[in-house]
Amino acid sequence: MREDCFPLKPCGGCDYAMKTDVTITDERMVLTCTGVTKTYRTRGKQISVLRGIDLAIPKGTLTVITGNSGTGKTTLLSIAGGLDRPDTGRIAFMGNPMESLTARESALLRRGRIGFIFQNFNLIDSWTAIENAEAGLIHLRVTADEKRRLATDLLAGLGLAGRLDSFPDELSVGEEQRVAIARTLAARPSLVLADEPTGSVDDETGAEIIRRLMAHTREHGGSVIVATHGPFPLGTADAVFRLAEGVLLPL
Ligand SMILES: Nc1ncnc2c1ncn2[C@@H]1O[C@H](COP(=O)(O)OP(=O)(O)OP(=O)(O)O)[C@@H](O)[C@H]1O
Ligand SMILES: [Mg+2]
Repeated sequence: MREDCFPLKPCGGCDYAMKTDVTITDERMVLTCTGVTKTYRTRGKQISVLRGIDLAIPKGTLTVITGNSGTGKTTLLSIAGGLDRPDTGRIAFMGNPMESLTARESALLRRGRIGFIFQNFNLIDSWTAIENAEAGLIHLRVTADEKRRLATDLLAGLGLAGRLDSFPDELSVGEEQRVAIARTLAARPSLVLADEPTGSVDDETGAEIIRRLMAHTREHGGSVIVATHGPFPLGTADAVFRLAEGVLLPL
Protein backbone atom coordinates (compact mmCIF):
# COMPACT_ATOMS: atom_id res chain seq x y z
CA MET A 1 0.00 0.00 0.00
CA ARG A 2 1.30 3.45 -0.85
CA GLU A 3 1.92 5.84 2.03
CA ASP A 4 -1.03 8.07 1.13
CA CYS A 5 -3.39 5.22 0.24
CA PHE A 6 -6.85 5.42 1.70
CA PRO A 7 -7.27 2.15 3.59
CA LEU A 8 -10.92 1.41 3.00
CA LYS A 9 -12.56 -1.83 2.12
CA PRO A 10 -14.76 -2.20 -0.96
CA CYS A 11 -18.43 -2.05 -0.19
CA GLY A 12 -21.53 -3.04 -2.15
CA GLY A 13 -23.70 -0.22 -0.87
CA CYS A 14 -22.05 2.66 -2.68
CA ASP A 15 -19.64 2.91 -5.54
CA TYR A 16 -16.99 5.19 -4.15
CA ALA A 17 -16.91 5.83 -0.45
CA MET A 18 -15.27 2.60 0.58
CA LYS A 19 -12.93 2.04 -2.34
CA THR A 20 -9.40 0.98 -1.63
CA ASP A 21 -7.87 3.11 -4.34
CA VAL A 22 -8.79 6.50 -2.91
CA THR A 23 -5.79 8.51 -1.78
CA ILE A 24 -5.69 11.72 0.19
CA THR A 25 -4.44 13.48 -2.92
CA ASP A 26 -7.20 12.03 -5.10
CA GLU A 27 -8.53 14.92 -7.17
CA ARG A 28 -12.04 13.45 -7.22
CA MET A 29 -12.32 13.90 -3.46
CA VAL A 30 -12.94 17.14 -1.64
CA LEU A 31 -12.42 15.52 1.77
CA THR A 32 -10.92 12.30 3.10
CA CYS A 33 -10.89 11.09 6.70
CA THR A 34 -8.76 8.08 7.65
CA GLY A 35 -8.71 6.28 10.97
CA VAL A 36 -10.18 9.27 12.81
CA THR A 37 -10.63 8.77 16.55
CA LYS A 38 -11.86 11.12 19.25
CA THR A 39 -12.29 10.58 22.98
CA TYR A 40 -13.70 13.23 25.32
CA ARG A 41 -12.31 13.28 28.83
CA THR A 42 -14.32 15.24 31.37
CA ARG A 43 -14.47 14.99 35.16
CA GLY A 44 -12.61 11.70 35.23
CA LYS A 45 -14.89 10.14 32.61
CA GLN A 46 -13.89 9.06 29.13
CA ILE A 47 -16.26 8.87 26.18
CA SER A 48 -14.81 7.28 23.04
CA VAL A 49 -17.03 8.95 20.47
CA LEU A 50 -15.21 8.18 17.22
CA ARG A 51 -13.30 4.88 17.05
CA GLY A 52 -11.86 4.81 13.54
CA ILE A 53 -13.75 6.78 10.91
CA ASP A 54 -12.88 6.29 7.24
CA LEU A 55 -14.75 8.49 4.80
CA ALA A 56 -14.16 9.93 1.35
CA ILE A 57 -16.38 12.68 -0.05
CA PRO A 58 -16.31 13.13 -3.83
CA LYS A 59 -16.80 16.55 -5.38
CA GLY A 60 -20.37 17.52 -6.23
CA THR A 61 -22.13 14.97 -4.03
CA LEU A 62 -24.51 14.95 -1.08
CA THR A 63 -23.64 12.53 1.71
CA VAL A 64 -25.93 11.91 4.67
CA ILE A 65 -24.70 10.70 8.05
CA THR A 66 -27.47 9.38 10.25
CA GLY A 67 -27.24 8.10 13.79
CA ASN A 68 -28.99 8.38 17.12
CA SER A 69 -28.58 11.43 19.31
CA GLY A 70 -25.20 11.44 21.03
CA THR A 71 -23.46 9.07 18.63
CA GLY A 72 -20.95 11.71 17.50
CA LYS A 73 -22.32 13.30 14.31
CA THR A 74 -21.56 16.88 15.40
CA THR A 75 -18.16 15.77 16.66
CA LEU A 76 -17.37 14.22 13.27
CA LEU A 77 -18.50 17.31 11.32
CA SER A 78 -16.41 19.59 13.58
CA ILE A 79 -13.32 17.47 13.01
CA ALA A 80 -13.99 17.11 9.27
CA GLY A 81 -14.27 20.89 8.97
CA GLY A 82 -11.13 21.61 10.98
CA LEU A 83 -12.92 23.19 13.96
CA ASP A 84 -11.61 20.43 16.20
CA ARG A 85 -8.69 18.04 15.93
CA PRO A 86 -8.88 14.24 16.02
CA ASP A 87 -6.87 12.32 18.63
CA THR A 88 -5.53 10.11 15.85
CA GLY A 89 -6.16 9.77 12.14
CA ARG A 90 -5.87 12.08 9.18
CA ILE A 91 -8.09 14.63 7.52
CA ALA A 92 -7.27 15.91 4.04
CA PHE A 93 -9.18 18.78 2.48
CA MET A 94 -8.72 19.23 -1.28
CA GLY A 95 -5.64 17.04 -1.09
CA ASN A 96 -4.05 18.95 1.79
CA PRO A 97 -3.31 16.88 4.91
CA MET A 98 -4.62 19.14 7.67
CA GLU A 99 -2.15 17.90 10.29
CA SER A 100 0.75 19.22 8.23
CA LEU A 101 -0.65 22.76 8.26
CA THR A 102 -0.22 25.40 10.94
CA ALA A 103 -3.42 26.76 12.50
CA ARG A 104 -3.11 29.85 10.28
CA GLU A 105 -2.52 27.85 7.08
CA SER A 106 -5.46 25.63 7.90
CA ALA A 107 -7.71 28.66 8.55
CA LEU A 108 -6.65 30.25 5.26
CA LEU A 109 -7.31 27.03 3.35
CA ARG A 110 -10.76 26.62 4.88
CA ARG A 111 -11.78 30.29 4.61
CA GLY A 112 -14.63 30.62 2.16
CA ARG A 113 -14.17 26.97 1.07
CA ILE A 114 -15.78 25.16 3.99
CA GLY A 115 -19.18 26.35 5.16
CA PHE A 116 -20.93 25.23 8.33
CA ILE A 117 -24.62 25.13 9.02
CA PHE A 118 -24.45 24.73 12.78
CA GLN A 119 -27.01 22.83 14.81
CA ASN A 120 -27.51 25.98 16.93
CA PHE A 121 -27.35 28.35 13.89
CA ASN A 122 -24.75 30.81 15.33
CA LEU A 123 -26.49 33.91 14.02
CA ILE A 124 -25.33 37.32 15.19
CA ASP A 125 -28.09 38.67 17.44
CA SER A 126 -27.60 42.35 16.66
CA TRP A 127 -27.69 41.84 12.89
CA THR A 128 -30.83 41.53 10.77
CA ALA A 129 -31.58 38.47 8.64
CA ILE A 130 -30.15 40.11 5.52
CA GLU A 131 -27.00 41.24 7.37
CA ASN A 132 -26.50 37.74 8.77
CA ALA A 133 -26.91 36.25 5.28
CA GLU A 134 -24.44 38.77 3.84
CA ALA A 135 -21.89 37.69 6.45
CA GLY A 136 -21.42 34.56 4.37
CA LEU A 137 -20.23 36.71 1.47
CA ILE A 138 -17.51 38.49 3.39
CA HIS A 139 -14.70 36.83 1.37
CA LEU A 140 -16.37 37.27 -2.01
CA ARG A 141 -14.96 40.03 -4.18
CA VAL A 142 -18.22 41.58 -5.28
CA THR A 143 -19.81 44.97 -4.65
CA ALA A 144 -22.02 45.66 -1.63
CA ASP A 145 -25.03 45.90 -3.99
CA GLU A 146 -24.24 42.51 -5.47
CA LYS A 147 -23.85 41.00 -1.98
CA ARG A 148 -27.26 42.37 -1.03
CA ARG A 149 -28.80 40.97 -4.22
CA LEU A 150 -27.28 37.50 -3.70
CA ALA A 151 -28.32 37.36 -0.04
CA THR A 152 -31.82 38.66 -0.84
CA ASP A 153 -32.31 36.04 -3.58
CA LEU A 154 -31.24 33.23 -1.27
CA LEU A 155 -33.43 34.37 1.61
CA ALA A 156 -36.39 34.87 -0.74
CA GLY A 157 -35.82 31.39 -2.17
CA LEU A 158 -36.04 30.01 1.35
CA GLY A 159 -39.35 31.82 1.96
CA LEU A 160 -37.91 34.74 3.94
CA ALA A 161 -38.52 37.66 1.56
CA GLY A 162 -40.69 39.30 4.20
CA ARG A 163 -38.16 38.82 7.02
CA LEU A 164 -35.04 40.52 5.61
CA ASP A 165 -35.01 43.24 8.29
CA SER A 166 -35.92 41.00 11.22
CA PHE A 167 -33.42 40.30 14.00
CA PRO A 168 -32.83 36.69 15.09
CA ASP A 169 -34.92 37.07 18.26
CA GLU A 170 -37.85 38.17 16.09
CA LEU A 171 -37.62 35.00 13.98
CA SER A 172 -39.00 31.54 14.60
CA VAL A 173 -36.45 28.75 15.11
CA GLY A 174 -37.12 27.45 11.60
CA GLU A 175 -36.66 30.93 10.14
CA GLU A 176 -33.35 31.34 12.00
CA GLN A 177 -32.27 28.00 10.58
CA ARG A 178 -33.04 29.18 7.05
CA VAL A 179 -31.04 32.39 7.56
CA ALA A 180 -28.09 30.26 8.68
CA ILE A 181 -28.46 28.11 5.55
CA ALA A 182 -28.62 31.18 3.29
CA ARG A 183 -25.48 32.57 4.95
CA THR A 184 -23.55 29.38 4.30
CA LEU A 185 -24.73 28.69 0.74
CA ALA A 186 -24.26 32.33 -0.36
CA ALA A 187 -20.49 31.91 -0.42
CA ARG A 188 -20.69 28.74 -2.56
CA PRO A 189 -18.14 26.81 -0.49
CA SER A 190 -16.52 23.67 -1.87
CA LEU A 191 -17.74 21.76 1.19
CA VAL A 192 -20.87 22.41 3.23
CA LEU A 193 -21.15 20.68 6.59
CA ALA A 194 -24.80 20.82 7.59
CA ASP A 195 -25.71 19.74 11.11
CA GLU A 196 -29.43 18.86 11.31
CA PRO A 197 -30.35 21.38 8.57
CA THR A 198 -33.99 20.29 8.56
CA GLY A 199 -34.27 19.79 12.31
CA SER A 200 -36.50 22.76 13.10
CA VAL A 201 -38.78 23.11 10.09
CA ASP A 202 -41.95 21.57 8.69
CA ASP A 203 -41.81 18.96 5.94
CA GLU A 204 -42.45 21.43 3.11
CA THR A 205 -39.71 23.82 4.25
CA GLY A 206 -37.44 20.84 4.84
CA ALA A 207 -37.97 19.73 1.24
CA GLU A 208 -37.03 23.24 0.05
CA ILE A 209 -33.86 23.20 2.17
CA ILE A 210 -32.88 19.83 0.71
CA ARG A 211 -33.60 21.15 -2.79
CA ARG A 212 -31.22 24.07 -2.08
CA LEU A 213 -28.51 21.73 -0.77
CA MET A 214 -28.94 19.49 -3.82
CA ALA A 215 -28.74 22.51 -6.13
CA HIS A 216 -25.48 23.46 -4.44
CA THR A 217 -24.00 20.10 -5.44
CA ARG A 218 -25.55 19.91 -8.92
CA GLU A 219 -25.21 23.53 -10.06
CA HIS A 220 -22.08 24.68 -8.25
CA GLY A 221 -20.20 21.39 -7.93
CA GLY A 222 -19.94 21.83 -4.17
CA SER A 223 -20.12 18.87 -1.80
CA VAL A 224 -22.50 18.62 1.13
CA ILE A 225 -22.39 16.43 4.22
CA VAL A 226 -25.63 16.39 6.19
CA ALA A 227 -25.73 15.01 9.72
CA THR A 228 -29.17 14.11 11.02
CA HIS A 229 -30.83 12.00 13.66
CA GLY A 230 -34.25 12.91 12.31
CA PRO A 231 -36.12 11.95 9.16
CA PHE A 232 -34.36 12.95 5.96
CA PRO A 233 -35.37 11.86 2.47
CA LEU A 234 -32.42 9.52 2.14
CA GLY A 235 -33.25 8.78 -1.51
CA THR A 236 -32.01 12.26 -2.45
CA ALA A 237 -28.48 11.52 -1.23
CA ASP A 238 -25.57 10.11 -3.21
CA ALA A 239 -24.43 8.11 -0.19
CA VAL A 240 -25.85 7.40 3.26
CA PHE A 241 -23.93 6.21 6.31
CA ARG A 242 -24.96 5.33 9.82
CA LEU A 243 -22.75 6.32 12.73
CA ALA A 244 -23.02 3.85 15.59
CA GLU A 245 -20.57 2.89 18.33
CA GLY A 246 -17.90 5.11 16.86
CA VAL A 247 -17.80 3.71 13.34
CA LEU A 248 -19.51 4.55 10.05
CA LEU A 249 -21.38 1.89 8.15
CA PRO A 250 -22.89 2.39 4.68
CA LEU A 251 -26.68 2.06 4.56
N1 LIG B 1 -16.89 19.01 24.43
C1 LIG B 1 -17.35 17.86 24.90
N2 LIG B 1 -16.87 17.36 26.07
C2 LIG B 1 -17.30 16.19 26.54
N3 LIG B 1 -18.20 15.38 25.93
C3 LIG B 1 -18.69 15.82 24.77
C4 LIG B 1 -18.30 17.07 24.19
N4 LIG B 1 -18.97 17.23 23.01
C5 LIG B 1 -19.73 16.15 22.87
N5 LIG B 1 -19.57 15.29 23.91
C6 LIG B 1 -20.23 13.99 24.07
O1 LIG B 1 -19.90 13.22 22.92
C7 LIG B 1 -21.03 12.47 22.48
C8 LIG B 1 -21.32 12.81 21.02
O2 LIG B 1 -21.79 14.15 20.96
P1 LIG B 1 -22.25 14.79 19.58
O3 LIG B 1 -22.74 16.18 19.89
O4 LIG B 1 -21.15 14.67 18.60
O5 LIG B 1 -23.47 13.83 19.18
P2 LIG B 1 -24.54 13.97 18.02
O6 LIG B 1 -24.58 12.67 17.30
O7 LIG B 1 -24.29 15.18 17.22
O8 LIG B 1 -25.90 14.14 18.85
P3 LIG B 1 -27.25 14.91 18.42
O9 LIG B 1 -27.92 14.04 17.37
O10 LIG B 1 -28.05 14.97 19.70
O11 LIG B 1 -26.90 16.27 17.91
C9 LIG B 1 -22.16 12.80 23.45
O12 LIG B 1 -22.24 11.75 24.39
C10 LIG B 1 -21.74 14.08 24.10
O13 LIG B 1 -22.23 14.16 25.40
MG1 LIG C 1 -25.36 16.92 16.91
